[in-house]
Amino acid sequence: MIKKISTNDLRVGMYIEKLDVSWVNHPFWKSSFKIESKKELKTIHASAIKFAWIDIKKGINIPEQPAINLNVSDTGSIDKPISKETQNFPKSSIEDEMKTAKIVLDSAKQATQAMFNEVRMGVSVNTEDVAPLVTNIFESVSRNSSALLCLTQIKNKDDYTYLHSVAVCALMIALGKQIDYQGSFHKLGMAGLLHDIGKMAIPEDVLNKEGKLTKEEFDIVKNHPRRGYELLKEAKTDICDTARDVCLHHHERVDGKGYPDGLTGKEISLEAKMGAICDVYDAITSDRCYKKGWDPAESLKKMASWKKGHFDDQLFRAFIKSVGIYPSGTLVKLRSSRLAIVIEQSDKTLLEPIIKIFYSCSNRAQIPIKIIDLTSSGEMVESIESPKKWGFTRKFIIDLIST
Ligand SMILES: [Fe+2]
Repeated sequence: MIKKISTNDLRVGMYIEKLDVSWVNHPFWKSSFKIESKKELKTIHASAIKFAWIDIKKGINIPEQPAINLNVSDTGSIDKPISKETQNFPKSSIEDEMKTAKIVLDSAKQATQAMFNEVRMGVSVNTEDVAPLVTNIFESVSRNSSALLCLTQIKNKDDYTYLHSVAVCALMIALGKQIDYQGSFHKLGMAGLLHDIGKMAIPEDVLNKEGKLTKEEFDIVKNHPRRGYELLKEAKTDICDTARDVCLHHHERVDGKGYPDGLTGKEISLEAKMGAICDVYDAITSDRCYKKGWDPAESLKKMASWKKGHFDDQLFRAFIKSVGIYPSGTLVKLRSSRLAIVIEQSDKTLLEPIIKIFYSCSNRAQIPIKIIDLTSSGEMVESIESPKKWGFTRKFIIDLIST
């Protein structure tokens, strides 16, 4: 679908079908393209072009509300927190949000990968291109957090580090919303995106090693928060204190057994405690070169058993609320012997989410899809099931959610 919008409303991730200019004065060599960077946006803004036609099927849509002003400076830094009012976005269905979230995730992954690769090659950290994507992630999470959180669960060994960073960014924003975070959501998201940048200072053979690490190799890996902190100190663009702090302290534990500084409870900032929870949750739900990821519900159970001493108790409870006891994407078996995928959390209770029924266990066959709200149906979750046990891939689950 094509929409005419003011060039002031253009965003990274939008697909330009046409600019309101003759080809002679066109600032780009092709007339239809996706805006991939802030630099391209600046080129359009620097021209006299007032309007553009965007294709919302090929790129992100214009927000239904006026774009939030995050006060992102040219260097990607921001100072003012987002006001309460601008945090209220109209809710979208998971099916609709999946379409936008796929595009947001794709752009965010590419920009993060480019930034991280430059750092690996010795270039200073430059957040200019990723800063607008944090805004896109904030908006998608605000409309429906389940979509982006489901999608970030599919990673392969080559894109793990970048997608993990995007996932932690989205999870921190979702957790921030849950606890009514009073600081800047952009700084919070940026902190999630940059928390593991120190891994770019770790030799790739150590970072991606499939076998057990030697003591020396483990020491190198454990040094990544400090290396990340140093990289952020020398960055080309302004990096907020929140991002530096989360980068340095996301492996601290409330019992003081974490690293690098062995800080305890009160010495660790709220944001670093949030980072610790989001980082561990995404890491254990992801497939890695050395292990298969656990499903979201199983991961929460494991984390609950470690939480004494590891995580801040109150914050962990808020985290469960933000992702759900049966997080979206969880495969469940119902009392009626049917399988369903959790697609949405209920406002009433975490135990009765909204689900998509698609499979009969007795016939071992797919059945017509039916969406039901467990709070108002006679149905009940009997157990959490492993998709692998039933022969479903994560991609199948995502496709099922999207349709
Ligand atoms: Fe880390």
